[in-house]
This record gives sequence, structure tokens and C-alpha cells, in this order.
Amino acid sequence: FFETFLSFCVSFLRHFVSFYEVFRFALAQNQDVPKLVPQVDMVDTSSSFAMTYAFCSQFSKGVYAIMGLYDRRTVNMLMSFCGSLHVCFVTPSFPVLTNNQFVLQLRPQLQEPLMALLEHFYWNHFVYMYSSDSGLSVLQRILDTAAERSWQVTSVNLDTLTEVSFIKLLADLDYKKEFQIIIDCELERLNSIINLVKADNYHYILNNLGFLDLNVTEFQNLGPNVTGFQLMNRSDPLVQKINQEWMEFDSRDLKLVRRRLKYTGALTYDGVIVMATAFNNLRRQRIDISRRGNAGECLANPPAPWGQGIDIQRALQQVRLDGLTGRVQFDERGHRTNYTLTVMELSPAGPRKMGYWNEKQGYVNTAVYKPVLEEFHGLQNRTYVVTTILEAPYMMLKTNHEKLEGNDKYEGYCAELASEIAKHVGFSYRLQLVGDGKYGARDSETKMWNGMVGELVYGSADVAVAPLTITLVREQVIDFTKPFMSLGISIMIKKPTKSKPGVFSFLDPLAYEIWMCIVFAYIGVSVVLFLVRFFSSVLFTKEKEAPEHTNDFGIFNSLWFSLGAFMQQGCDISPRSLSGRIVGGVWWFFTLIIISSYTANLAAFLTVERMVSPIESAEDLAKQTEIAYGTLDGGSTKEFFKRSKIAVFEKMWSYMRSADPTVFVKNTNEGVVRVRKSKGKYAYLLESSMNEYIEQRKPCDTMKVGGNLDSKGYGVATPKGSPLRIPVNLAVLKLNEQAVLDKLKNKWWYDKGECGHKDSGRKDKTSALSLSNVAGVFYILIGGLGLAMMVALVEFCYKSRIESRRMKLIDAAMMSTTLGGMAVAGASGLGGENGRVVAHDFPKAGAQGLPCMSKAAGLGLSSTGM
Ligand SMILES: *[C@@H]1O[C@H](CO)[C@@H](O)[C@H](O)[C@H]1NC(C)=O
Ligand SMILES: *[C@@H]1O[C@H](CO)[C@@H](O)[C@H](O)[C@H]1NC(C)=O
Ligand SMILES: *[C@@H]1O[C@H](CO)[C@@H](O)[C@H](O)[C@H]1NC(C)=O
Repeated sequence: FFETFLSFCVSFLRHFVSFYEVFRFALAQNQDVPKLVPQVDMVDTSSSFAMTYAFCSQFSKGVYAIMGLYDRRTVNMLMSFCGSLHVCFVTPSFPVLTNNQFVLQLRPQLQEPLMALLEHFYWNHFVYMYSSDSGLSVLQRILDTAAERSWQVTSVNLDTLTEVSFIKLLADLDYKKEFQIIIDCELERLNSIINLVKADNYHYILNNLGFLDLNVTEFQNLGPNVTGFQLMNRSDPLVQKINQEWMEFDSRDLKLVRRRLKYTGALTYDGVIVMATAFNNLRRQRIDISRRGNAGECLANPPAPWGQGIDIQRALQQVRLDGLTGRVQFDERGHRTNYTLTVMELSPAGPRKMGYWNEKQGYVNTAVYKPVLEEFHGLQNRTYVVTTILEAPYMMLKTNHEKLEGNDKYEGYCAELASEIAKHVGFSYRLQLVGDGKYGARDSETKMWNGMVGELVYGSADVAVAPLTITLVREQVIDFTKPFMSLGISIMIKKPTKSKPGVFSFLDPLAYEIWMCIVFAYIGVSVVLFLVRFFSSVLFTKEKEAPEHTNDFGIFNSLWFSLGAFMQQGCDISPRSLSGRIVGGVWWFFTLIIISSYTANLAAFLTVERMVSPIESAEDLAKQTEIAYGTLDGGSTKEFFKRSKIAVFEKMWSYMRSADPTVFVKNTNEGVVRVRKSKGKYAYLLESSMNEYIEQRKPCDTMKVGGNLDSKGYGVATPKGSPLRIPVNLAVLKLNEQAVLDKLKNKWWYDKGECGHKDSGRKDKTSALSLSNVAGVFYILIGGLGLAMMVALVEFCYKSRIESRRMKLIDAAMMSTTLGGMAVAGASGLGGENGRVVAHDFPKAGAQGLPCMSKAAGLGLSSTGM
């Protein structure tokens, strides 16, 4: 018969969504016996008429208990109804001082805790800002005490203030040097005014139960002293579980973006649990609370109370449970009792627990401002928890880790570092992976730390040995040792393919343009030489008597002379005229310089196989647009560029910010894959240690270029004030000085690398010059020899034809046998020294070249030995 238990919800519209949603969620979560059937009305809680109507209509429908909110204008009316009709009203609304037992107030009273805090801080001169809903009873209490102890209290009703007059008020308080302020209002209003209030040298007490629900981001940066209360213990596993379910509840209803349960939501949730528990108890005790007969005439005069109401009231009041808001227990007036409030304060590192308050003990301060350094050796018997994170090559699971136990499951740089440190310091430890897989950042909403930093801050680990960057915000909440590894942002590019040495790579030492210029210079010099000779021969031809002493600088000989000089071989002929010698001298000088330069460059160019890398530094990246580059989205590298004031990095940031498609990647792996897949058109900026590691991983196609853009370090971290701090720091320094850290890095980066040792291949190649480098020279030699043979053949044919024609003429004219024999000898020996014999008869230009020809052969031979 309890299956038809009804409840109804009175709620005013502004809060309706958050309140009703939690109500619905709580009901859905507690769907066992007895089944609670909700009967819901939406009411404007500030309207007495609407509330009366809703109450009566629910009462006549026969509900067993009512859950809802009230307003200071309707609370009295509601209470009198509850009292006279014996209907229980369970509410998460602000507490009221009443002896009406039918109203069960889930929200604890704050008067006593506040008074205890005032006493703790020795405040006797302060401002009390309140909203009339909840603040009036507190104000009464404060004014009573103030009269008793002659405190100076200024009270301000926030309901009567607009934002402008509020700011004026603040200025006024500032002028009067009122630096101690209590603010007492609901979360929403507190959030809206908290960022208006002045910060430096003020001290605020927030008389509200949801310190961690506040949005104190901006406030915190100003660094005031803020103290407040927290009802919900967020680190309680039950709270975390329910919160998780709440976030996932009804998630298909996409219109609602769920936020974490605030303390008001938690109170509502606990209210439903209280009801469910109470009705369950009634059912177990088999108390009949069915509503027979009078289905409620609520405006009867005199009022007819509901007979079973008192049983329900008793059942509700006797509920004792541990809910989201801690111990839920009521006294005979329906107020919360036996509860504990955490007292929090805002430190530069975020909110932290400062103490707690409960009825029995009052305020108890637990904050330890100056941690007492425990004697370290007194702790050595403990097993320390070392928090770490899976990140190759720092910490990895061994391939057969399923079969292994404890610390043996892990390997890597940090695994060995931890064991080295433990050996030096002399403690035993247990490696423990960080629960949420994060390094540690502060939640912008709650100011709580997550990741490894959080584990240290909240005491679930003693040391963090991991690639944890030393930063200012982290250093404020934990202690770092000296860095065990230094690194910086670096550039990763795809390894350029090695350029194969071409057969004509001996041409490389001089640029293409220079070769072209040399060819033109050669032709030009030859032509000038020819012209110079031509003019001088025209001028002096009459004086020159012996033609055999004059070197005949025809165009062919000029070319030959220039070539001989260029090849550093010289030539039998040389210019005789002054002008000719000047030209020759200049050309020799030119040749000297060019050949020396060529020789000097040749060795370097032929022996080193160059990797043509398009990018060598951040500047290279910044000044080009062909290769895209980016960073991890939302990491410290991105922050670095965003904040940097250095021109190059600013330029890079403006490119990255506006690049389309986006150059930011979600994780390191995605970045590396993008570098590998983009055919050299993407460079990724990441931390150098990771860059170096990936360079050593298959398929070995990435490389680090340039230096680091910034510098930072990884440190071992301990909680503030930990006795381990000094010994661990000393151990890290010692390991560094003994080069153990270098050894470890070599081991995990290069010895275990999959790409062979750095530079090992390159050094061997520097000494040996392979045939392929100089093959072109041989080709030219062979080609030249072949050409010479062909020319010789053509010449032979041509000459022999001329010769035979001449022979025929001579035969016909003289018929001489001796001459015929000589001609045969001449023809057969053509091209050799015998040519001189022929030359005697034909003193022509071609014959003059022959002495040089032998030199040319010598040149060919000597060049093969190059
Ligand atoms: C803030 O708190 C610190 C530490 O408790 C104290 O030294 C300081 O005087 C306080 N400042 C104000 C303005 O109360
Ligand atoms: C107060 O709560 C604790 C549990 O938190 C419980 O053990 C204790 O009995 C309660 N005290 C009273 C007087 O009910
Ligand atoms: C450590 O433990 C051993 C026995 O397990 C004990 O004899 C010794 O006194 C302990 N040392 C300290 C410093 O507590």
C-alpha cells in the first residue's frame, strides 16, 4: 500500500530547473520499494496565494509529504499550514529558527560556525552584508553578541542595493578602512558580487555552505584572505559516484548541459533519500499510514489535522544516514544536527582546508602553515607511493607485465631513475600510475588540482617520478628537485631523403652559373686573344721577317691556348705581343683563383653525402609558407607561442592561429603521424626529449632540426614540506654528477633506438670516395678519347683523299717512284710525330697545333689520376 506514496514539489520558477532536475534524478536513483510517486506543481514561491492554492490542492489529493522551497514571504504561511494539518515539509531552503517539528530543514544553520570563526579571527570590527532571506536570523545573532561584547558591526542589506550603489558602498568601506567583511547570501548572488569586491588587504568570510561551488578565479588572483564553509566533501567516493551519475543522467536530453552538483542540489538529493528511508522504515515497522476517509479539507475551520501525519513526521525525523551532505540527522525541531562543516580558505594555490566545525568541538583548526620537518630516518620503514604516468620511454609496461608483480611490471627511464633515487636515499617504494592519467593542472572551476600534482597535493602519493615539467604554478603547491632532464621546444620534420651523389657531382663545387660564366669567359678570352694578335700582326707584319718565330694565333690556336692555361697545363705557343701577354696573364690569374676554389670545395662536396634539409631553425620556418607547422592543441607549447614576445615566435603564432586547415593536433601521436604523412610539408613543434625519442623509433623518418626554442626541466616532485624533499634532491644531483642520468638517457633513447646509432653511418662515408662520385670524369675521358679517335679517322680519310689526289697529280706530272714511297710513309703515320715531315711541306695553321697535341694527351692521362 506504500506503493502509492505521493510527494509533491513546490518550487519557484527561477530555481525550478536545477531543483526539479535533482529531485527527478534522486527519485530515479531510488526506485526500489517503496516506490515514490511524485506529484509536481510549479509555483511562484513568493506568491502567498499560489502557494496556498498549491498546498491545498496537493493536500486534498492525499500526498504523504511535501518537498519544496519557500521564500521569506511565504515561509510563515507554509509553516502554519504544516503545523495545523500535520503535513511534513522537507526543504533544502534556507534555515529558519522555528520549533515547528513538521518542517524538516536539510540545510544546517550557520550562526554557530560563523560565531566560532569570528572568535578564531578575533574580529570585533566588521561589516555584515546579507540578503534578507537567510541573513536575518544570523544578523540577530550577531547583533546580540555585538551588544554583549561591544563589537562594531555595520550591517548592509544586499537586497536593497543595485550594482552601482554596491560599488559605491565598496568605495565607501575602502575609505573607512573596513577591511573585514562577512558576506551572507545565496551562491548566485555571491558569484555575481564576488568579482566586484576589492581584494588586497581585505579579509572576507563567506557565510555560505558551498565554498567549492563558487567561481573564484578572478578573485583568487587578487590574493585576498577568504574563508568559507564547505558542506559537501567532494573527495568522498559516494559523492563522486553520485556526481558522476548525475552528470550522465538523462544525457540524451541534450538541451541540458549538466554542471556538477552544487550543495543545494546535494541537499535536495539527500531530502529524497531521507523520505525514501523514512517510508521504508515505516513499511518495515508495518505502521499503517494509509489515508482513509478525510482526503483533506485544508481550509476547514477548525483545521482537521491528518491523523497519520505525526507517524510520518517521527519516521522522517528519526532517519539517520550518511548522505551527500555528510551525516544527515535531525533534532526534535527538525533541524540538522551532528553534522560537520569543513572550513576552507583561499590560498594562492586554490582553496584548501583550514579546519572544521562541529557542534561538539566547535571550530578546530587543522591547517599546518609551517610543516614540521619530520626526522627523515624515522620514516624509512614506510613504503612510499611513487606516482607516475605511462609515457614512452619514461615509463612503460613490460611486454610480459601480466606475469610480473609490483615495480617489476614497469621499465623505462623513470622506472630506473626511481630505483636509483630509492637506492641513494634508502627507502622502499611502490610505483603507482596516476588515477586520471594526467600530469596535473588546476581545474578552472573548482581550483582543485588533478593528475600527479593533485595526488601529491591531496596526499595520495609521496613522490612523483615522471616527465613533469617544473612550472611556477606547480612549484607553488609542490616541491621540485633540481631538473633531472633539460629540454625545450624543438622542431620535428620529416627526414629529407638522402640525395644520391650524381655521376656529375664533381661539378657541384661550383654553381651552375659559375660554370656558364667560365665557358663564356673562356670563349671571350680566346676571341680577345685572337683579335689582339690580329691587330698586332696587321701593324707589325712588315717588320716580322721570320714567320716560324711568330706564333700564329688564329682562332683555333687561341682557343687551344686558353684551354691549356685553364687546365693548368700551358702550351708551346704563347703570345708575344704585350697586349697578348696581358690577356694571357689575366687569364692565368683568373684560372688560378677558379681552380684553387674548385679544388678547395671539391673534397667537401664529393665526400659528404649531404642531407638537403629545407628547415634548419625556427627562423627558417617563420619566413616560409610552404611548410605548415603547428603544436599540440592546449599544451604548454601552444601557450609558449601565445605568450611569447619574441618577433619570430610572434610571427609563427600569428601564422599558426590563422592557418586553415588547423595546424594544431590533439595529441603527440597525431602530430607525429601528420609529419610522417605530409611529405615534408608539415613540421611539428614539441618537446626536444620526445622529439629525440621519436627520431630513434621506426620507421625512422623524422628528425629534430635546430636548437631548442626555450628551456625547461623535468623534476622529481614531492609534496610541500615532505621529509623526502631534501634527500631526493641530493640524490638527483648526485646521479647527475655521476653521469648516471646521461647513461640512462643514452640507454633509453639511443641504445634502445630502432634506427641505428646517430651518425654512425655518416662517419664511414667521409673517408672513402666512391666511384659513383667521380664516374662522370671517366665518362668524359672515355668520351674524349672516343671523339679523338673519330676525329682522327675523319682526318685520316680526308687527308688521304687529298693526298691520293695529289699523288695522282704528281704521278701524272712526274711519275717519280721515290716521292710515292714517301707519301705512303706520310699517310700511314699521320697524326704522330711523322706529321712533322708532312708539316714541312704544308706550313699551315693545323700543323702548328701538333706540338700542343702531345701535351693534350698528357693532360688526359694525368687527369685520370685525379
Ligand atoms: C591574511 O592571512 C595571512 C595568513 O593567515 C595573515 O598573515 C594576513 O595578515 C592576513 N591578511 C589580512 C588582511 O587579514
Ligand atoms: C553522530 O554521527 C556519527 C557518525 O557520523 C555517529 O556515529 C554518532 O552516533 C552520531 N551521534 C549522535 C549523538 O547521534
Ligand atoms: C623499522 O622496523 C623495524 C622492524 O620492522 C624496527 O625494529 C625498527 O625499529 C624500525 N625503525 C624505525 C626507525 O622505526
